[in-house]
Amino acid sequence: MDSNTIREKYLKFFEGKGHKIVEPANLVLEDDPTTLFTGSGMQPLMPYLLGRKHPEGERLANSQPCFRSQDIDDIGDNRHTTFFEMLGNWSLGDYFKEFQIRSFWQFLTEELRLAPSKIYVTCFIGDEENGIPRDDEAAEIWQKVFKEAGVSAGIVEIGSAVDGDERGIKSGERIFFYDDKENWWSRAGGIATTPVGDPCGPDSEVFYDFGEAAHDPAYGKAHPASDSGRFLEIGNQVFMQYRRTESGFELLEQKNVDFGGGLERLTVAAMDTPDVFKGSLLEPIIDKLEVLSHQDYSDHKVEMRIISDHLRAAVFLATQGLTPSNKAQGYVLRRLLRRVIVKAQRLGLVDNFFAEIVPVVSEIYGGFYPTIKTREAEVISVLVREETLFRKALARGLRELEKLANGPEGEVIDGEELFKLQDTYGFPLEVAVEEIKIRGLVLSEKYAQEFEAALGEQRERSQTASKGMFKGGLEDESEMTIKYHTAAHLLDAALRLIVDPKIAQKGANITPERLRYDFSIDRKLTPEEIAAVEQKVNEWIEADLPVTFEEVDVDYAFETLGAHGVFRDKYGDRVTVYTIGSGDDVVSCEICGGPHVKHTGAIADGKMFKIVKEESSSAGVRRVKAQLQ
Ligand code: SER
Repeated sequence: MDSNTIREKYLKFFEGKGHKIVEPANLVLEDDPTTLFTGSGMQPLMPYLLGRKHPEGERLANSQPCFRSQDIDDIGDNRHTTFFEMLGNWSLGDYFKEFQIRSFWQFLTEELRLAPSKIYVTCFIGDEENGIPRDDEAAEIWQKVFKEAGVSAGIVEIGSAVDGDERGIKSGERIFFYDDKENWWSRAGGIATTPVGDPCGPDSEVFYDFGEAAHDPAYGKAHPASDSGRFLEIGNQVFMQYRRTESGFELLEQKNVDFGGGLERLTVAAMDTPDVFKGSLLEPIIDKLEVLSHQDYSDHKVEMRIISDHLRAAVFLATQGLTPSNKAQGYVLRRLLRRVIVKAQRLGLVDNFFAEIVPVVSEIYGGFYPTIKTREAEVISVLVREETLFRKALARGLRELEKLANGPEGEVIDGEELFKLQDTYGFPLEVAVEEIKIRGLVLSEKYAQEFEAALGEQRERSQTASKGMFKGGLEDESEMTIKYHTAAHLLDAALRLIVDPKIAQKGANITPERLRYDFSIDRKLTPEEIAAVEQKVNEWIEADLPVTFEEVDVDYAFETLGAHGVFRDKYGDRVTVYTIGSGDDVVSCEICGGPHVKHTGAIADGKMFKIVKEESSSAGVRRVKAQLQ
């Protein structure tokens, strides 16, 4: 069974169960300050999981192209890919656990014809400290479902899934309870890291058993959530019924289901083959690599997996208009392509290699994603340009390495230096290590750990930098952040009223301590302007204006309401407009995802709005920081 068929079957199946098939979001959201890539099907649905009404109703489904850059270093095994399609279905306060579990079961056993005895499931063990109960309800539904299929379904408590596990599974066991590391879903992982304001909940994951032959004993004995290669997660049903607050978790008014299942993984489960690279979305690329390199996949699995995964991802990203660069998404694309070039070189693939592979990718996907075909020539030229640049970078890196080689004799080259070579010159670690050996230089014994440490530090730095990018520049949804968010709308309106009606927002970053606001203007603000803007904002706060929102068609928002919104071509057909003031006293009208205070008086709480800094942000953009003091 091939993936295109499975995608079609899935969408039809859920359409038949009353779901509207919604358009997937773009994979790359280049002009959206809130996120780098779409990493799951639920990401664009966050506001609806929290209670907003979705224009298409309460039952939705789609196939969402996803990209998870955090998985780049995991590629090479039988199941991880950076790019994948996530089949998703959602209940926005409509059906809950029983309907979801039974529907997915039906899809797996009737549509994909998976043997019931090959299916294993996991549920959430509970968390006393946060008052989240053990999910016996899901486990009991599963037990009934398995029983009806004539499969024994013992329930087991595992707790945490650690490598090197010695317990494994015993005969008859089928439903496994794990802790929040495995069976709690928020967009940032377990209970402790769930972002304030986010929807979240216990989940129940479904695994396919490829049998003993697929088991890698290096990870200890196999159980569903262990990293053993034997069990493959093919679907995750999140019972999104909580919202994270400052002090814990509160129940949402509606109980939602957020289901996501990797199309590539479902395909290989249907084929009973424990290697996603053998599925129909990747195998043709591997076949082509074998032909071009005159090498066998079985001898070069890791390289060929990395090349096929990264190139496929690169084709999708470039098709959506992304080009390699040194920042944000463009940097990720650059990294993917550079890794591909290094691996390809090992296989002896040099000339015209991208131009041979891109058409294979467009052949696989052209039916469902026609732009991959129509933009093929442009994509090839973007990729080839990057290759040329990278070959130059490799030459520069080699020169730097020569400098190290010419240092004092016997000097040890450590991992931090290798990290700098990679970070500054784009010279990859593995190439550096090889070249060092060829030159007979001394490499620190701990170079790998040192390199990791330097990389870890850099990651921490960049995580901090990207914090708050997810939702309209809001770092969290604490009370203070919400106040600052409404204050930012007032600031924006006051700037336009007092300084220049052409001013447009260029970015915002809002934390519980302050707001930061970037806007277009080609000069400094005068002290008088700053004072007048502050005074205006404070007047509006004092006037205790109502803050209301409505959901309207996007054209109506712009043309009739005269709303502001800086991402016009990114909005869907329906948008939310937040209005401050009413009647003749409307002071601000913005397309915005919220949340906001309900009336401006709630912002101040005895404090005054004050601009604490005004500075240049970049050419033609000024930045102000403001606080309530
Ligand atoms: N949100 C869940 C996931 O990403 C299910 O869609 O796995």
